[in-house]
Amino acid sequence: MAFARLTSIVWIALAASQLVKGAATAYKCSNGKVTANAACCALFPVVDLLQKDLFDGGECGEEAHSALRLSFHDAIGFSIHGLGGGADGSILAFNKTENAFHANGGIDDITDRQFPVFLESKLTAGDFVHLAAAVGTANCPGAPRLEFKFGRPAPKAPAPDLTVPEPTDSVTKILARFADAGFSPQEAVALLSSHTIAAADVVDPTIPGTPFDSTVGTFDTQVFLEVLLKGHLFPGNGSQAGEVLSPLAGEMRLQSDFAISQDSRTACFWQAMVNDQNRMVTEFKAAMAKLQVLGQNTAKLVDCSDIVPVPKSFTTNIKFPATFSKKDVQIACPKLAFPSLATVAGPAPTIPPV
Ligand code: HEM
Repeated sequence: MAFARLTSIVWIALAASQLVKGAATAYKCSNGKVTANAACCALFPVVDLLQKDLFDGGECGEEAHSALRLSFHDAIGFSIHGLGGGADGSILAFNKTENAFHANGGIDDITDRQFPVFLESKLTAGDFVHLAAAVGTANCPGAPRLEFKFGRPAPKAPAPDLTVPEPTDSVTKILARFADAGFSPQEAVALLSSHTIAAADVVDPTIPGTPFDSTVGTFDTQVFLEVLLKGHLFPGNGSQAGEVLSPLAGEMRLQSDFAISQDSRTACFWQAMVNDQNRMVTEFKAAMAKLQVLGQNTAKLVDCSDIVPVPKSFTTNIKFPATFSKKDVQIACPKLAFPSLATVAGPAPTIPPV
């Protein structure tokens, strides 16, 4: 009885503190929506526009995946040593120039899709590219709710070439590029969580839309598991530059993902993600928050993170694809216990294209 009373007192105190918090930070927009800052009200219609005209009504489809990739290719055009505008939307505003860079192969699909919506949104290119990435990612179950900072000025110039890592690059070269943009090896691995909602169109152009894992519509840790499985096939027209043997028919494995999963500087960060959804989303969210404001004067940006839709959660344990088990894992971090995972029943799957 006394315990029940104590519980309800604690509950009422907690609820009251939440109300006070809400009252102190909430602003009611003319459309009835609530946000922490009046300046963010203008973004609600843009979120609706993105969902309707770009993301097929809120899907975690190809446009959502590509919007995330675009935010990386835009932002990484930056160096702590003074090069490039970073997360400024230059990749959209100067798409003719940046689409011609080798590492931006296939990016024209998403810049072409985004451009008319961008014009309609009336946002700057930087705000548009990074809002689209946050909203598109939120459509994928399991994803973190990414931050969104509002108020980037228009980009001044295209990013310089050779800032975007290529799948043919060595781990040393990739980590050096990330370090030059201000990211540690652990943060680089965290950013690669994005490849859980990814597919390749141009690595092997004979098989467009070939996913990097068996659950391309879910932001789970499956990609960290499947990149570690012994590979034995190429999903398309033999071996292409930047591609290595894959474990599953219909699945593409990037040479860079595999090399990073096996390298002593990154292998433990990679393996630690397997079946640790909380770790993955926490680290990915933090690294994305840094990426999406690279090169920006953050003191001038308004925090509009609360206009980003709340993603559906993903809480179940991941599984080995059918026929695979622990004996197929190429462990590169022996000091870390590998999680016990069940195996999907049935014959080995063929992963369909997206
Ligand atoms: C070592 C660094 C990276 C390399 C070498 C790399 C390389 C690639 C390649 C080759 C593709 C397939 C392109 C195609 O054939 O269509 C791809 C797709 C993708 N990448 Fe990365 N990537 C890297 C890091 C990142 C990061 C940091 C992000 C985001 C934060 C990202 C997000 C994506 C997404 C979402 C796709 C799928 C796009 C789609 O399905 O349309 N990548 N990446």
